[in-house]
Amino acid sequence: MALKLSVIGCGYLGATHAAAMSSLGFEVVGIDTDPHKVELLNKGELPFYEPGLDTLLTQEMKTGRLKFTTDYSSVSDVDVHFICVGTPQSVDGLAADLTYVYASVEAIAPHLKEGSLVVGKSTVPVGTAQALKDKLAITAPQSDLAWNPEFLREGFAVEDTLKPNRLVVGVTSNSAEKILQEVYQSLIDAGTPWVRADLPTAELVKVAANSFLATKISFINAMAEVCEAAGADVTVLAKAIGYDPRIGSRFLQAGIGFGGGCLPKDIRAFMARAQELGAEQALEFLREIDAINLRSRQRVIDVVRADLSEDLTQYKLAILGATFKPDSDDVRDSPALDIAAQLQAAGAHVVVHDPKGIEPARKRFPNLDYAEKITDCVKGADAILHLTEWKEYRDLDPAVIGQLVKSKFIIDGRNALDRDRWRSAGWRFHALGRTD
Ligand code: UGA
Repeated sequence: MALKLSVIGCGYLGATHAAAMSSLGFEVVGIDTDPHKVELLNKGELPFYEPGLDTLLTQEMKTGRLKFTTDYSSVSDVDVHFICVGTPQSVDGLAADLTYVYASVEAIAPHLKEGSLVVGKSTVPVGTAQALKDKLAITAPQSDLAWNPEFLREGFAVEDTLKPNRLVVGVTSNSAEKILQEVYQSLIDAGTPWVRADLPTAELVKVAANSFLATKISFINAMAEVCEAAGADVTVLAKAIGYDPRIGSRFLQAGIGFGGGCLPKDIRAFMARAQELGAEQALEFLREIDAINLRSRQRVIDVVRADLSEDLTQYKLAILGATFKPDSDDVRDSPALDIAAQLQAAGAHVVVHDPKGIEPARKRFPNLDYAEKITDCVKGADAILHLTEWKEYRDLDPAVIGQLVKSKFIIDGRNALDRDRWRSAGWRFHALGRTD
């Protein structure tokens, strides 16, 4: 008999995992404490934007294998429970807030059947899995616990779940590994590398991977600062070093840095956990990675001030992009919105456009002005700030946009626009890390 699965927490990670597991042929029940989210998902609608997931969800709802509920008691016949709840940064420090992880494991415990497996996918500080396992040993000794970190990127969530570049499982028994192999058999058959680890290593793999990615981005942004000081071009530098396969060209896009619900909070939580473990010195460099990242945002504001005026009260600034990256409506810790809010606080009239993120942005920053159309956003602007590299912005015709603005001045905060094209249409073009 095929295994029955549950997915607890139906955000970006959980909703994707639930639909993907259903597409592998499993019966899946998704649980979320938010009744509105559950209602939408049951109608085949997504409470957020993720390319391709809407189609997959609709397709899977039709099969009858996938359903969503707020009721934990409905999962008493489930074999494998995936914990996919959020672990945001605590309000009072750098550490991760584990409230939802503990609450979900506590809620599921009374409903765990004999031989069932609880599988953590949420990003947690090392040691959490063992602590949860100890708890379950008391409340549900008939079950086991494993850790299976998730590496999906927003914007590519479906692809990353169904064609991951590796599967990492932290287990303490062969039987737990066997169950997970059964869940992922088709991905294993397709050649996905399988890494068996112990619980702490599996937890660490995730934060180590995100720390490495954050380091790569801050590295190139540090190079961008040096390039500016030395009269060099960071985009050429990135291309040149990227040809070395030991370095690789990906994640070397200089600009306003990383944001989102993962990288910033993960490196901070990692530092906090290392400190608890007495290993803080080992991660001291992450403090610098965080500082370089936040400085990249400030550098854009410095460019605006240096070019226009220290006093921005007379200026209209058009911000292109609100989400933390393109192909997502996620505005959590978005560098673009942070810059927009800081410029508004400095007195500028700021108008923000985004293809998908205006509503979530409005909820976080209700006092910013938003424009549904790019043309309204840029009308009469003294400067355009290109802060999230949506395709729509790359496709803009500089000559057409030039007719609408007050001053043809654009700052490319993502090094994604065609500088020559904008310049030949008469624009002053400033890009981070490029001097001429
Ligand atoms: C990140 C990781 O890439 C995933 O592997 C991981 O599973 C996920 O976090 C998570 O922990 O859940 P994600 O937050 O979706 O995924 O976004 P990324 O594609 O990593 O981008 C993060 C930020 O870095 C964005 O703001 C992006 O604009 C920025 N970035 C990325 C750069 O500034 N330069 C680059 O070269 C690449």
